[in-house]
Amino acid sequence: MIYNTFGIPATADHYIEVTDRQQLLDLIAQGTLSSAPFFVLGGGSNVVFTGHYHGTILHLENKGIHLLSTDSTSGTLLVEAAAGEQWDAFVQHSINNSWHGAENLAAIPGTVGAAPVQNVGAYGLEAKDIIHSVRAIHTATGQEKVFTNAECQFGYRSSIFKQSLQGQYIVWSVTFRLSSTFTPQVNYKALSDALSAAGLVHPTARQLADIVASLRWSKLPRPDETGSAGSFFKNPIVTPQHYEQLKTHHPDIVAYPVADGYKLAAGWLIEHAGWKGRTLGRCGVYEKQALVLVNLGGCSGSEVIALADAITADVKRLYGVTLEKEAIII
Ligand code: EPU
Repeated sequence: MIYNTFGIPATADHYIEVTDRQQLLDLIAQGTLSSAPFFVLGGGSNVVFTGHYHGTILHLENKGIHLLSTDSTSGTLLVEAAAGEQWDAFVQHSINNSWHGAENLAAIPGTVGAAPVQNVGAYGLEAKDIIHSVRAIHTATGQEKVFTNAECQFGYRSSIFKQSLQGQYIVWSVTFRLSSTFTPQVNYKALSDALSAAGLVHPTARQLADIVASLRWSKLPRPDETGSAGSFFKNPIVTPQHYEQLKTHHPDIVAYPVADGYKLAAGWLIEHAGWKGRTLGRCGVYEKQALVLVNLGGCSGSEVIALADAITADVKRLYGVTLEKEAIII
């Protein structure tokens, strides 16, 4: 069985499926997580294995999605989902129950537990916008801590769990702040364009989620058809000066203003560096979205790295921008 969406066969010293809390606490008490390196695997949708993993792979498989509370005045709902739930199962379950707010994040591969770690985002919404708190277990003591949204220190594809607390906590469940009223969020241009084209001026939650999913699959490979890790790189942020310089030489460059400068569309940089649709070994750059590296069949982790390095070098040479990987290389 291959537990990563890139479809790269890999082995580890130990592989453990964790389904209940006591099992995890026992593993911690037995020293399983302190005696050797470990890696927490969710849906395996953002990871590239480059060889045998000398340590323990913990595959979180705990399940459950529960409505914790309803505020009848504000319509605010708190919904807790187990880390091992598939992210899209949580989104679909929410829509089916008229718990609103997660629609723009429909169809993202991966698990609920991974969502806060890298603050997944798409179509104008990030996980941080709907996360109320995160319940996590300390990997040395087994103690539980509930992190408030602010304590998670969310950033673009980042959180405290990926930064200063990396390896120190395992996300066990996530509580979301949803709403009993549906307010479509359609600020993302590609999304509002797609809604207009479909004649959906006032979409229902289901229609919005369906349009999001169709938009996603029009640009990204379906994990069951083509191996990939979704966006392989992050969209880089450059200073206003650097952006102005780039804009002078490349007037059609795609960028969005952010607090500390401009976020460039890495897909644009990679495409204009001539890489879209190109291949190196058994790994390629997806022809519909240059930010995605794909497995052309039997691709190895080192081939992915070789392609990523070649792209990074060209983008640096042409634009003076250093691409940072979004995918985790292990
Ligand atoms: N573009 C190109 N060439 C390409 C790809 C993109 O020129 O090959 C330009 C286009 O102008 C396009 C713009 O870049 O309009 C933005 O592209 P897109 O809407 O596809 O979004 P993205 O910035 O490339 C981000 C996320 C995706 C998310 C989409 C939609 C990152 C690293 N990626 O991609 O997230 O689905 O927005 O919101 O932030 C993921 O993280 O795995 C992922 C798929």
